[in-house]
Formats: sequence, structure tokens, C-alpha cells
Amino acid sequence: MSAEKAAAQQTDQKTFTLTNDETGDSIQLPVLEGTHGPAVIDIRKLYAETGHFTFDPSFTATGSCKSRLTFIDGEKGVLLHRGYTIEDLAEHSSFLSVAYLLLYGDLPTQEQKDKFETDITYHTMVNEQVNYFYRGFRRDAHPMAIMCGVVGALAGFYHDSLDINDPEQRELSAQRLIAKIPTLGAMTHKYTIGQPFMYPRNDLNFAENFLYMCFAVPAEPYVVNPVLADAMDKIFILHADHEQNASTSTVRLAGSSQANPFACIAAGIASLWGPSHGGANQAVLEMLEEIGSKENIPEFIKRAKDKEDPFRLMGFGHRVYKNFDPRAQVLKKAADDVLEELGIEDPMLEIAMELERIALEDEYFVKRQLYPNVDFYSGIILRAMGFPTSMFTVLFAVARTVGWISQWKEMIEEPSLRIGRPRQLYTGPEQRDFVPIEKRK
Ligand code: CMC
Repeated sequence: MSAEKAAAQQTDQKTFTLTNDETGDSIQLPVLEGTHGPAVIDIRKLYAETGHFTFDPSFTATGSCKSRLTFIDGEKGVLLHRGYTIEDLAEHSSFLSVAYLLLYGDLPTQEQKDKFETDITYHTMVNEQVNYFYRGFRRDAHPMAIMCGVVGALAGFYHDSLDINDPEQRELSAQRLIAKIPTLGAMTHKYTIGQPFMYPRNDLNFAENFLYMCFAVPAEPYVVNPVLADAMDKIFILHADHEQNASTSTVRLAGSSQANPFACIAAGIASLWGPSHGGANQAVLEMLEEIGSKENIPEFIKRAKDKEDPFRLMGFGHRVYKNFDPRAQVLKKAADDVLEELGIEDPMLEIAMELERIALEDEYFVKRQLYPNVDFYSGIILRAMGFPTSMFTVLFAVARTVGWISQWKEMIEEPSLRIGRPRQLYTGPEQRDFVPIEKRK
């Protein structure tokens, strides 16, 4: 018995043996277990001991970090933040309490809640110079293009919170980002519709203030509708964090190089923009508009199934969920509440319901476990509230900033943090001699 195997048995360390079929050599790899979810095979010594890398280009079987924040059971359709179900949090909590939970590990006491809300409220304004950044953009710029620019620019304003090795500065940056991102999101909306920016109102809660900054105008008073504020808060809660998705992994990878948090969050926003990720909420509404009426649904279902056609049913499918996305269930109910409150009969909702019904019965979707995801319903609510489709992903970014910064903070606080550096399977040409230009064919 090898010394390594004996040591493993002594410590009850579970192991996984990998054997090279060609040479017969084998290696024992430690198996690490978390609280929930599949155990992982720790391959950190694999390269040093075997000279091989692993290959998992889209990370379908790779755990990139340890995390205590969020757990997803995709088979059962479960989403937990720090152990609490998303349904409970959406029903009983507020967005800022969920932000506190994600950042610090527990739901706040009344005293902690009051202090956290005051701290966030204190930071809602942005430096007045930020206004000039907006003027550099065309009015028809995509709001996410503006967000990538203005959020990254914050690093140029808050020099006193850029030292990532100082816990107080990390804290300050986290609070600044959570507080200022709605202000920047609302300014982006105002800029693209040609209205004056509205300064934040610190007497309003997070969701109310966001709606106020987006929809109030200086010429008249604005009263926030509590049903809409409640739905907005729920949307923020449902989008707050989602484990190691593309944008969160982007934030972690950017942060692993010790880049400042404003730059890291800007990187996350860029990743979120894509239609396979946060951009899907905009794409869902555009798809429903393109479908136009219930009669056209079969044609679009046919296209979604056709492998020669790049069209996909937006708002359906998920890398992790192979069951209903629990966030979609909560949102479906919120969509009903908002439409009823506003007295809107949105034909898009009718098309969405019919599309959902047909897709859930269709063999193609059933076999591939393609269920509606969070983006399927959020667009209907946001449209009813008066947001243009191009703003939908910005709202996602406003909420997800909480998850990004919590994940970033958790990573920076990890003593064993090293820069993230994936390797590759090189398939290019072998080394060759340089060819002078006159001899190239
Ligand atoms: N419409 C039609 N077919 C689909 C769809 C869809 N929306 N999603 C997946 N498939 C098919 C896909 O073609 C493949 O079929 P086959 O096995 O025959 O090749 C199979 O289902 C598995 O799909 P995949 O592309 O390997 O799955 P993935 O995990 O790489 O992609 C996804 C996940 C979310 C990018 C994808 O389902 C998708 O493009 N959905 C539409 C976009 C969307 O709604 N995105 C929002 C995700 S939730 C919010 C967020 O994370 O930001």
C-alpha cells in the first residue's frame, strides 16, 4: 500500500482513483464534500503528479471555488441563499435584508437592518462629475453599454476605497456599489429618454427610490405605487445571486488578479449583457413581440427545435435547472399582481402563457428538461411598469451587484486566494520557422 493511500485511510479522507490505461499508473485524488450538492474531486495536484490537465471548456463539471453563499439543486428546482429558500426570502424579506444576508452570512437583527439601510442610503448619490460621462454617450446607446462605462469609471472617483487588502475599504466599496448602482441605472434610463436626472431620495426604501429616480420628473410630484415597489423589490431579491454563473465567475476571475471591485463589477456587467445570460429578459420580450399572436406559436416552436436554425425559445432552459426555475414561479405570481393593479391586459402575457403550455407538453422540451427560467416572466412585469426592453438587463445588473460583490468579498477573504489561471488544450500549429514576407505564399 502506498504511503499516500495509507495516510488517506488513516484520516478517513475519501479518495478517487484515476488510472492511466496506457501506463497502468494510478493516482489517488481527495474527494471533498460540501453541505449540499455533489462532492468534488480535488484535482489540484493532478498536473504536478501526472503531467495532464483536465478539459472542461464550458465548466459543466467543474467547481471553481468553495462558497458559503448560494446553493442550487437543479434537479429539484431549489435555490438557497445562506440556507434560506428563495421563496421564503421573496415572501418575507426585503432586498436590502437579502443583501445583508449575502454579504455577512445571516439575516440582520432589527438594529443591524436599520444601520445597514442607513449606510446604504448614505451612499446613494454619485459624484457630480459622473454626469459628464453620460453626455459622452449617444442618446440611443444601449443602456448596458452605458452601464459598463459608468460603473468602471467609479474606480476613478472613490480612491479611498480601492485598497482591497483593507477590510474597511472593501466594506466601503461594497456599500458604495450596492447604493450607487440603482442611481446609475436610473440615470442611464433618464439619459436615453432625454429626461433630467433625478437625485436619489433617502426617505424612500431601495425599490421605491429606484422607481422614483426612473419615473419621477422635476415638474410634478411623484407618488410611488406600493404594489409596484413591492414587485420591484421581489424582482431584485430573485436576481440577487445565483452561484457561479458566467457573470459571477467573471467577477471572481477579474478580482483574483487583485483588480479593484469597481472594475470587477464592470466586468460582471459586460458578461451579464449576453442574451444567453442576463440579456435574455430583453430577448424574451422581443421574441414575444415577434411571435405577435397565439396562432404563430407552433411556427416558432418548430424553429426552436430545428438544429439548422439558430433561433432558441428565449426564457427557456438553464445550465443548472432541469426543473422549474423557482424564481420563475414567484415571478409569475408577481406578474399577475402587477398587471391586475395597473389594469393591464397584456397580449404578451397571453402569448407567454400559451407558449409555456405548449413547450411544457412538447417532447423536444420535455426530453431536454427545458423549463421557463427567471427571464421568462420578469420582462412582462418590467414592461407593465413602464421600462423599455433595453433597460431590462440593467435592472438585473442592479440586483446582481449584491451577489457579485458578496462573492468578490468572500473570495478576497479566502487566505489561499491565488490568481485564477485556466489552462488549455492547444490545437494550433507545431513550432515552425519564421517565414520572411517575400517568401510567404
Ligand atoms: N430553445 C431550444 N432549444 C434549447 C434551448 C432553448 N431555449 N435551450 C437549450 N436547448 C437545447 C439545445 O439545443 C440542446 O439540444 P441538443 O441536446 O439536441 O443539442 C439542449 O437543449 C441542451 O442545451 P445546451 O445549449 O447544451 O444547454 P446549456 O446549458 O449550454 O445552455 C442556456 C443553457 C440557458 C444558455 C440555454 O438553455 C439557452 O440558450 N436558453 C435561452 C436563453 C435564456 O433564456 N437564458 C437565460 C438563462 S436564466 C438567467 C441567467 O442565467 O442569466
